[in-house]
Amino acid sequence: MAGLFSPGNIGRLELQNRMIRAASHEGLADIRGAPTEAQFQFYRGFVEGGIGLVITGYAGIMQNGKSALYRMTMIDADDLVPAHRALAAKIHAIGGKIVSQIAHCGRQTLSTATGEPLLVAPSSIPSKFYREVPRALTDHEIQEIIRSFAAAAARVAAAGYDGVQVHAAHGYLLSTFLSRHANVRRDKWGGSFENRFRIVGETLKAVKEAVGQAFPVLLKLNSFEKARKGIKPGECVEFARLAAKTGCCDAVEISAGGSGEEAFYMARGKFPTEAILTYMRPFCKKGKGVKFLIRQVAAPILSLFHPPFREGYNLETAARVKKAISLPVITVGGMRTKAFMEAAIGAGKTDFVSMARPLLLEPDLADKFRRGESDAAQCDNCNICLMAADAVPIRCHKDEFVERARIHQNVP
Ligand SMILES: Cc1cc2nc3c(=O)[nH]c(=O)nc-3n(C[C@H](O)[C@H](O)[C@H](O)COP(=O)(O)O)c2cc1C
Repeated sequence: MAGLFSPGNIGRLELQNRMIRAASHEGLADIRGAPTEAQFQFYRGFVEGGIGLVITGYAGIMQNGKSALYRMTMIDADDLVPAHRALAAKIHAIGGKIVSQIAHCGRQTLSTATGEPLLVAPSSIPSKFYREVPRALTDHEIQEIIRSFAAAAARVAAAGYDGVQVHAAHGYLLSTFLSRHANVRRDKWGGSFENRFRIVGETLKAVKEAVGQAFPVLLKLNSFEKARKGIKPGECVEFARLAAKTGCCDAVEISAGGSGEEAFYMARGKFPTEAILTYMRPFCKKGKGVKFLIRQVAAPILSLFHPPFREGYNLETAARVKKAISLPVITVGGMRTKAFMEAAIGAGKTDFVSMARPLLLEPDLADKFRRGESDAAQCDNCNICLMAADAVPIRCHKDEFVERARIHQNVP
């Protein structure tokens, strides 16, 4: 029976254990989007801390899909390949494995970040969080996006990464095509289940063709979206089945929610009022009076509708996906205790577990589990890291905010 420390495979990629660092936007790229030495030093902690695989934060495939978060990594041009190659080589030199996640942000960004007058999306429906009304992509532009995913994947392979992950979750472009609430197209890219999946299927095929059959291609999918017409578990299982059927996908990672309005379904945990007021546009720019009202009135009301944290909140759907396809399944979201992860893998509900927030506080969590020094991650899901991604490089901010929250709540 497989366990957390059994070796595992994703296509030809051999992992020393079943623990993965989930893609998390780092905000450590240089001004052009090239990976930096700081990024390597950041990943180094996970590799030296015993993680089986590092999946990088999303790298942009096109300027019109660039993130509004602080300093996104880009992989939209050939001149960026040397910096990516240097990063991959350094990770390999210390014995690590690294997969690059590639993405187009679609409507979940700002035109100030993309440099284009309008954002692009399947339909002209704005994200409730980013609010800019996007324009619907033409058929020709959709083909161009598919080609750009393929070109970006070819750069990933040329740079020497161990694989590429196509990001089709969290409300970014590909996932909005999958969701009925964001995709109301009536052409071959919308409407029926197969039509909504078409861009993902075509992207997987184009990516595989660009990187070669042996190069591992992973896909990240949503298992759940809160929106009334958002993706629900049954649909996720069917999307995973279609992805497997393309023959161009080597593993599926199961997540949920979004980086915009559904952020707390993606990263379940606390409602980080202070971090929102400190880091997030437009709230960080508000005056003292407005911030006072948000603190005293809006935040307590919003937190009533806040989804509760529970361990491994995407595991049930991942287990259904696992039964439906023969590809390796990775489950992300709320993986916190060694016993839970061991049980999930042991029971065959998932092949791998991946973690984002816990590793910011304990990059060496895998080794701590292996050596028996810890049974549970110390991350308390405060979600400050997520809110701060708008403005500063990624890190765990827990300690500084504990103090700030104490002052504002007048706790002695
Ligand atoms: C600061 C931060 C940045 C993130 N950036 C990405 C990203 O670039 N790509 C992605 O697929 N998921 C991203 N996520 C989501 C995580 O990969 C993961 O799905 C989510 O945090 C739940 O896992 P956890 O409970 O282990 O944190 C991000 C999460 C956080 C907290």
